[in-house]
Amino acid sequence: MNQPQKDPKREKAYDCWLAYRRLEDSVANRYQAICSEIVVMGQSAIMDMAVEELKRGLGGILGIEPRILYGSADVRALALGMDIECLAIPVKEVEALSHDGFIIMGQNGGILIAGKSERGVLYGTFSFLRSMQTGMSPDTLNRIENPAAGIRMINHWDNMDGSIERGYAGNSIFFRDNQFISDKDSVRDYARLLASVGINGVSINNVNVHDQETRLITRELLPEVALLADIFRSYGIRLYLSINYSSPIDLGGLSTADPLDGTVQDWWCQKASEVYSFIPDLGGFLVKADSEFRPGPFTYGRTHAEGANMLAKALEPFGGIVIWRCFVYNCQQDWRDRATDRANAAYDHFMPLDGEFKDNVVLQIKNGPMDFQVREPVSPLFGGLKKTNQILELQITQEYTGQQRHVCFLIPQWKEVLDFETWCDGPGSTVKNLVCGKVYPQKHCGFAAVSNIGDNANWTGHILAQANLYGYGRLVWNPDLSSETIADEWVRLTFSNDPEVIETISKILLKSWETYEHYTSPLGIGWMVNPNHHYGPSVDGYEYSAWGTYHRADWLGIGVDRTVATGTGFAGRYHKPNAEMFEDMNKCPEELLLFFHRVEYKHRLKSGKTLIQHIYDTHFEGVEEAEKFRTRWLSLKGKIDKERFDAVLERLEIQIRDAREWRDVVNSYFYRKSGIPDEKGRRIY
Ligand code: GCU
Repeated sequence: MNQPQKDPKREKAYDCWLAYRRLEDSVANRYQAICSEIVVMGQSAIMDMAVEELKRGLGGILGIEPRILYGSADVRALALGMDIECLAIPVKEVEALSHDGFIIMGQNGGILIAGKSERGVLYGTFSFLRSMQTGMSPDTLNRIENPAAGIRMINHWDNMDGSIERGYAGNSIFFRDNQFISDKDSVRDYARLLASVGINGVSINNVNVHDQETRLITRELLPEVALLADIFRSYGIRLYLSINYSSPIDLGGLSTADPLDGTVQDWWCQKASEVYSFIPDLGGFLVKADSEFRPGPFTYGRTHAEGANMLAKALEPFGGIVIWRCFVYNCQQDWRDRATDRANAAYDHFMPLDGEFKDNVVLQIKNGPMDFQVREPVSPLFGGLKKTNQILELQITQEYTGQQRHVCFLIPQWKEVLDFETWCDGPGSTVKNLVCGKVYPQKHCGFAAVSNIGDNANWTGHILAQANLYGYGRLVWNPDLSSETIADEWVRLTFSNDPEVIETISKILLKSWETYEHYTSPLGIGWMVNPNHHYGPSVDGYEYSAWGTYHRADWLGIGVDRTVATGTGFAGRYHKPNAEMFEDMNKCPEELLLFFHRVEYKHRLKSGKTLIQHIYDTHFEGVEEAEKFRTRWLSLKGKIDKERFDAVLERLEIQIRDAREWRDVVNSYFYRKSGIPDEKGRRIY
């Protein structure tokens, strides 16, 4: 007998934070009185989406079907307006609004949502619905919000065969079997999710551009790309493509991809014009060059500025930008060579080029100098580069942070990055101010992050990992939001306004990064994972490899000396006083101690514990904390629908099992190396 097909969209988790649950209290009554009519002033495709969203939201949250009226500026109902000059909004407030910003204000007993652009109205609409769903009173809605930066982007690492590099939630929603998926429902729903948190750019294919994906910029595939661009556009999102630097050879049949070669330059100019004839508002190209076996300008003895500028010239007439990644290092290093330090690589490649990039080039810089480890210092390129457009690259997909089998809420990690004071221009030169163009003027700046979604019915594999996607969007809209606020909002929108549910889940989320760090690699040293797939413990997994990722543990101690005085000099790439702080073992923030210093196991930390005891203790604690997550979660039984309750529980069980593995492997490794027993006499193997 045929089983009825399970429709993933029927699963509760599919709606994420846009479930629009019914609100039944006095606040709901007040909204009902206002929202029975929606007055729409101005019309466009994106405005239509805003209206659709309101209908959907009001239907769900209030159970009403509002009447839609067009044209009148008389606000007694809920009004949406784009033609901001014609609305009765004080001049000061109109002036305070940026292009993508919005204003929500009470007017004549109604509520006005307005923006200078249709995108602004859409963002205002989502924000209004969020306020309503989280139970805010209509009296407290008044606000003006502007996004912190112009580029708020998601990078997909999707391949056309349907696989996703570092994807932990199924396959691509764009591609399957080297074709575009014709059913675009999920893409539409995804675009809506992204727009709801203010994302305005998406690159759809992996930065490692293989043969099939190289062809995305050809006449055969561009019509399909354009269909995706149409969907994203209707939600105010611009599409970008990752390109293969050697396309002139692979597609054009040229003998070179040398950026200074005239035929190569012409090829790209023609290519750009072709691409833009299909997608006139394409955001531009994302490029991984000369990194991990990808081609790039180094092959021709050219700099990355020469390489990027050549593409930038081709895109310029169409308003496109080149997003050029700084993740460039030698991945064929000899582990015996202690002078070469991967941490130095991006800085050393790009600092000499500061000021040489065209103004439609943006450098995309990973948060840390290595590669999205659970803990790393901030890349010194932030604060180093002064005359170059830059965006911060984060990783939402949990490659090194539990692969969406473990709960690891990354917002607190990102907050630390954003709030890091680089001192490049005195106090206030934080990473967030730099990438929002507040320290040095930049034509383009902002944020990008690697997506964590796939075609799983709940999008992210682990339902709690939805909070990372949500949080990324909220944070890049407003980097000043706290982790607590973001967690609170997400839980309310996703599950319930019940204080117990909010408190319990928020506590799990807010503790989870620290917990993951506790049972994995200690004090900033990173790695210790199984090679290739990067899941689970293998302390020496990358120790004798070519990837430049070493911990250098021996019987006496562990850590990499990155000081200027006796080490690789990485500490000196920061501005004072950071350089001095990292250089000095006694001043170095302890969570980064092993990143910057080689430390003996018997060294006493500020806590009074020896390093080895700290390693043992945190690994035991990490597992206990993970076990507590399960206890906490179990206390929610009956307060959360069974489907999502069980799904999360299942992941928490996996997390506990694998955290124990981490604990035992790491502790045993260090016990065997050092011969020093655990003071508390716990079981180590
Ligand atoms: C990491 C990751 C790769 C990815 C690379 C990148 O090294 O493991 O899969 O391609 O980062 O950011 O380009």
